[in-house]
Amino acid sequence: MNSTSLRFVRQVGMRRSHWATQRPLYRATSADKGNRRAIGAAYSSLSRPSSEGKSVIITGSSRGIGKAIALRLAADGYNVCINDVSANQGGCDKVAEEIRRMGRRACVAVADVTKRDEVKDMIETSVRELGPLHTMIANAGIVQVQHVLELSDEDFHRMFAVNVFGVQNCLSEAAKQLISQGNCRPDQPGKLIAASSIVGFKAFPLLPHYSASKWAVRGLVQAYAMELAKNNITANSYAPGIVESAMWDLIDAAVAKRTGLDPSEVTENMAHEMTAIDRVSVPEDVAKLVSFLASRDSDFVTGQTQLVDGGIIFT
Ligand SMILES: NC(=O)c1ccc[n+]([C@@H]2O[C@H](COP(=O)([O-])OP(=O)(O)OC[C@H]3O[C@@H](n4cnc5c(N)ncnc54)[C@H](O)[C@@H]3O)[C@@H](O)[C@H]2O)c1
Repeated sequence: MNSTSLRFVRQVGMRRSHWATQRPLYRATSADKGNRRAIGAAYSSLSRPSSEGKSVIITGSSRGIGKAIALRLAADGYNVCINDVSANQGGCDKVAEEIRRMGRRACVAVADVTKRDEVKDMIETSVRELGPLHTMIANAGIVQVQHVLELSDEDFHRMFAVNVFGVQNCLSEAAKQLISQGNCRPDQPGKLIAASSIVGFKAFPLLPHYSASKWAVRGLVQAYAMELAKNNITANSYAPGIVESAMWDLIDAAVAKRTGLDPSEVTENMAHEMTAIDRVSVPEDVAKLVSFLASRDSDFVTGQTQLVDGGIIFT
């Protein structure tokens, strides 16, 4: 190596961030070019490649955004494992039946995502019924409307148990499954996807611990993206805005109680005041983005939290 290139390598080396310095300085090989050409060739189709025959687990998919994602991914070609808590087993069965009518395979794995053993069982069920796992969507979440000074420790623990520990349980057990299967490749990465929110970018009043939990999801997917890239696994999250669902019915009722507004007006007013596109979102708006994140078109996207809010937060 001549002195100019040595100086360049040293300068680049010095600019490398703290975590990156833990990797040895990389020197390109001729195989790298070949790999890039192979990936380019695999990408040469101008339409979105089908997800035919792949399998996905979607937590909290008996209703709302999870259900819309399940139906959309089934239309994209995925076989789908539907999950929710036992109280929503009826909803799970109906979604699974709808997917089978679309000509895809579907199974139901009732599990509480806060319990790691149940998450392991859920993954086992999915693999047994649908074959190797390709994609995990940690969608299940809860909300609570509460003033920051009225929050109890139990409120805070419960929120983090579902929205953060639940996501961590699903992402980590799915990642272990993907790695043990050995089927993730640069041109076919395994996909970890989680639900964040606009409040993961800017907290909402009366949603303090919910907002904090959705910030945590952003941090988690960034860490997963960095640590699992070498295993050919990507990690991303979606950040919806104001989406018509059972969750917003709960927010409507609680905010209406505190403000004196009519419950039916809360969401409409918020969407009107805050959203550039000036409407309340529907679960299918979110499912379209998740369809991209779960598809081969997003293979080079990792560590991102993608907003789908009709123009509330601009990044
Ligand atoms: N609705 C919105 O406006 C909105 C906005 C931003 C983000 N989100 C996020 O999107 C995701 C889906 O929200 P939604 O609006 O469809 O809500 P929803 O309440 O309609 O659905 C959430 C589902 O998760 C399930 N769930 C809750 N705890 C669980 C657990 N421990 N184990 C397994 N399943 C569990 C629920 O039973 C429910 O079926 C959530 O993570 C939510 O925080 C929603």
